Amino acid sequence: MTTPTGEKIWITGASSGMGRELALRLAEAGNEVLVTARNREALESMAAMHSGITPVPADLSDPDCVVFLQESLKQHTQVLDRMILNAGTCEYLEIDDPDWQMMERVMSVNYFGAIRSLAAGLPLLKQHSTGARHIVAVGSQASRVVFPRAEAYGASKAALTYFMESLAVDLADQNIRVSVVQPGFVETPLTESNDFPMPFLMSVDQAAEHILKRLMARPTHIRFPWSLSSVLAIGSTLPWLWRNWVAPKLTR
Ligand SMILES: NC(=O)c1ccc[n+]([C@@H]2O[C@H](COP(=O)([O-])OP(=O)(O)OC[C@H]3O[C@@H](n4cnc5c(N)ncnc54)[C@H](OP(=O)(O)O)[C@@H]3O)[C@@H](O)[C@H]2O)c1
Repeated sequence: MTTPTGEKIWITGASSGMGRELALRLAEAGNEVLVTARNREALESMAAMHSGITPVPADLSDPDCVVFLQESLKQHTQVLDRMILNAGTCEYLEIDDPDWQMMERVMSVNYFGAIRSLAAGLPLLKQHSTGARHIVAVGSQASRVVFPRAEAYGASKAALTYFMESLAVDLADQNIRVSVVQPGFVETPLTESNDFPMPFLMSVDQAAEHILKRLMARPTHIRFPWSLSSVLAIGSTLPWLWRNWVAPKLTR
């Protein structure tokens, strides 16, 4: 399988990290790539680097962004082949001094932000009556087992994963496939202040490579790296062992 080419692709969370890398590589491969994030300057500098990139800045935590996004997307395209719902944020819970509002902040980007994007982009995806239409949501390996202090992040990715797996069933008869990407630890701005062990940490290049290699096949899940994935598969089948022996060792 090769990288997609000649497609109209919308990527959210494209101003940095994995989203940025995917956008640049997909534009380089001959796709028209619409990019969304709050940081307008970062998106514009990507557009200056590649004529195939078009900024569509938006704050996905704003419940009113759907109408605005629908209008902005339509200014640039009538159809989409693929949406990569990648925007995300991460905050950890300090149980001795909890910031409960943080749960809503994280859910509003990682879960509701993806649903708002879907609401804006799905009508354009449906405009294509043929072709390999594809919704890609970036979840996390973190939702496969429990991690310390990850109440907000893990729950948001678990909710997103369930939503997308359910959506896959509902869209199957329209030949729109849904994939959930579940990366392990990747070196990006999101992880740079993490102060706990990050086993099998990967570069953003490696992560983008893994995703692009699998994109054309439109599988239900894209999990990497296999090393972490295998450990978590064992952890999820032996939850007592994971919760009592492994998870406590992953704290600061
Ligand atoms: N790095 C990892 O280890 C790892 C592991 C598993 C899963 N993931 C997931 O991978 C995805 C990409 O993360 P990354 O690691 O590449 O981190 P990143 O570089 O911090 O990228 C996050 C992106 O989301 C955008 N974003 C955040 N809040 C937003 C909002 N309210 N509205 C619109 N866009 C928003 C950010 O742009 P602006 O700040 O410009 O808005 C940025 O472009 C996330 O969903 C993350 O949860 C990451």
